[in-house]
Amino acid sequence: MQIKDTQNLLQWAIKEFQPEIALACSFSIEDITIAHMLTKNAENTRVFALDTGRLNEETYQCANILQHKLGIRIDWYFPRNELVEQMENDKGVFAFRESIKARHVCCRIRKVEPLSRALSNLKAWITGLRREQSVTRNKLEQVEKDGLHGGIIKINPLADWKTEDVWAYIKQNNLPYNRLYDLGYKSIGCAPCTREVKPGEEERAGRWWWEDHEHKECGLHVGNHVVQTNSR
Ligand code: ADX
Ligand code: SF4
Repeated sequence: MQIKDTQNLLQWAIKEFQPEIALACSFSIEDITIAHMLTKNAENTRVFALDTGRLNEETYQCANILQHKLGIRIDWYFPRNELVEQMENDKGVFAFRESIKARHVCCRIRKVEPLSRALSNLKAWITGLRREQSVTRNKLEQVEKDGLHGGIIKINPLADWKTEDVWAYIKQNNLPYNRLYDLGYKSIGCAPCTREVKPGEEERAGRWWWEDHEHKECGLHVGNHVVQTNSR
């Protein structure tokens, strides 16, 4: 991992796609690292967040602090209210625990559909995904074609960063982070589907902990293909 290489990649992406490019920010340490790099390399790059309605209070607090610290605007996307109402009225407020199918329905309504609206006018999006995070991400490339979202470009600038690299960047730059990390959380999503990670467990063990590794994706990140970017 070279910070300079990551900055170069972001500079290339901004030159190529601004203003039709945005960072998808869940306020993870990865996303905060990228948001900070973007404020140094390009002003006014869009940052958006998906408010599923089930995020932890600590995540909102982190969003608020980050917004002020970096002086950025965050575009929030919410699920369609009629879809949430129908799901909760029909199945209850914890239906996602009943089966993988029910969990995917909830993720589709609260995350995937709002994401598709957030991406609808973009040529590229930036994520904080890293290869090390899980078996489902070990083939991740820095630049991919996102087959799920009309073939737009998906940029994963931290693909080859290790967890300790990200923490080093956060500390060196005195950046805020979600307080849940101090309570043993290592990957943070919705409150009812995230718990802290126990010693010896892998990084995403606290996400949908009742499911197998192979199922631990919510639909935001599937269906990508590597692309060659000769121009950078
Ligand atoms: S998830 O698919 O399991 O929920 P994860 O939490 O690992 O994803 O985050 C991976 C990347 O997806 C983040 O770095 C961010 O770019 C994007 N992402 C995840 N959740 C959100 C969210 N609520 N809002 C915006 N972007 C998100
Ligand atoms: Fe629903 Fe849990 Fe998916 Fe959040 S992570 S959208 S609460 S199933």
